[in-house]
Amino acid sequence: MSTTTAKSTNGKTAESTPVLTLAIDIGGSGLKASLLDEHGEMVTDRVRADTPNPCPPPVLIDALVKLIEPLGSFDRVSVGFPGVIRKGKVITAYNLGQSDWENFDLREALATKLARPVQVKNDADVQGLGAISGVGVEMVITLGTGVGSALFDDGWIAPHIELAHHPFRKGQTYEDQLGEKALEQAGRKKWKRRVKKAINLLRRLTNFDRLYIGGGNSRLIDFTLPPDVEIISNDHGMRGGIWLWRKDRPQVVSEPAAE
Ligand code: BGC
Repeated sequence: MSTTTAKSTNGKTAESTPVLTLAIDIGGSGLKASLLDEHGEMVTDRVRADTPNPCPPPVLIDALVKLIEPLGSFDRVSVGFPGVIRKGKVITAYNLGQSDWENFDLREALATKLARPVQVKNDADVQGLGAISGVGVEMVITLGTGVGSALFDDGWIAPHIELAHHPFRKGQTYEDQLGEKALEQAGRKKWKRRVKKAINLLRRLTNFDRLYIGGGNSRLIDFTLPPDVEIISNDHGMRGGIWLWRKDRPQVVSEPAAE
């Protein structure tokens, strides 16, 4: 890790070591990681591996340890997880195996394994933290294996709502209609029509000022989006991890990190 020299107010120079955050994005099909500087910029290449299948906690933790090996040392860890998280514990993880994960304290397990403080938050929330401008009502959805969602008001994050498993249309949920399996079953043309419908419905539901669409399948959107809707890079799923440690956006003052 490199050090920088800063001048203190008494004119003396002091060595300060930049704090590096290991950002991990756990997805239903891929695991990604990178190191971030204090501004949330990625300072290493992004590493990626397929998500193991099946993927119970010990298997995932081993896969993460292997994944991050090339990245070098870090001071703290931010994790985006594809399910509901409360105080570092997993409440739901439908795309990883609900019965394996329910109540698992991922924050504690990773803090023990990596010997660093750890924050864990829902993956769409983390992606949103990376993408939003902090002005107005901003919504983020992610279209990948599952369907992620996060909502913000002037940068404040709303309590996490699982849009994925909420009714959308024809007796099916957003994930039933827009998740990876639905894309495979219905084909791109139908899937894109559903995306358009979802945008209209979410506009009525939240009156968003801006909607961001991320996730691996967002790249399939080739129709013209309304001016207040944009596709975002998946790198926000890692870059957003910096906000789990920053106190200059109010929502981020989260639970104390497990050490
Ligand atoms: C989960 C969400 C998650 C989304 C994207 C859904 O199945 O329920 O919590 O954000 O997938 O990974």
